[in-house]
Amino acid sequence: MALERAFIFLGPPGAGKGTQAKILARRYGMPHLSTGDMLREAIAQGTKVGLEAKPLMDRGELVPDALVTKMIAERLESGDCNNGCVFDGYPRTVNQAIDLDHLLQWRGMGKPVVIEFRVPADKLLRRLSGRWTCSVNGETYNIYEAPPKVEGICDFDGGKLIQRPDDRPEVISERLAAYEFRTRPLTDYYWRKGVLDVIDGSAPMEDVTKAVMKIVRRIGGR
Ligand code: AP5
Repeated sequence: MALERAFIFLGPPGAGKGTQAKILARRYGMPHLSTGDMLREAIAQGTKVGLEAKPLMDRGELVPDALVTKMIAERLESGDCNNGCVFDGYPRTVNQAIDLDHLLQWRGMGKPVVIEFRVPADKLLRRLSGRWTCSVNGETYNIYEAPPKVEGICDFDGGKLIQRPDDRPEVISERLAAYEFRTRPLTDYYWRKGVLDVIDGSAPMEDVTKAVMKIVRRIGGR
């Protein structure tokens, strides 16, 4: 059953946005739009966007608004998001949020459902330093909380697990600072619009999924 809504997952690095976005997108057959994944793909392909984004991402800084918004606008053109999608890591600044409002309105996608994941800083550090990602399908694991069955190998396709270059401690602190200064104002932005839900992202994964599903049911999903 399509949810016909755009979901926006807000939260600091390591809050669990990607983990929960994948679950929601799979469950309802919706596209999962992660600007971080799109940028990492652009870097891997060596495109112009990738070349511009790489040094900024390596330092834990945000890439320019215009660049990510263009990427999202082009992605929405394909039309497969019209029945609902999950935005993960976008928007990340007030300018991006204003641009996304226009894009959603223009495409007739209505008001978004915004879910903010709150997690204390010490847990974020542990999650990011323990994260390993499948080099083939992007599946995420955590050596402390959700390890793969075989160390270093993806449960789904046997792909090699790798660590993200921006999960080094010095880059993590830059990413957390970027969140505080550039992204935190979005809480107020969406609260004023009456579309914000806040959930406890520090709970065990299944409980966070239940909290997301409670919101989905409230808006009419099953
Ligand atoms: P991006 O890839 O979006 O990274 P991020 O926002 O920093 O978020 P993360 O992917 O680190 O964390 P997450 O919340 O998805 O957590 P996850 O589910 O993986 O962005 C990277 C960079 O790209 C940015 O720094 C910026 O440079 C650039 N960029 C991207 N978008 C941009 C934009 N819009 N504008 C400008 N620049 C942009 O979980 C983390 C770990 O915790 C995993 O190991 C997971 O298994 C574990 N975990 C998850 N949930 C739980 C739980 N409930 N309990 C225990 N463990 C858990």
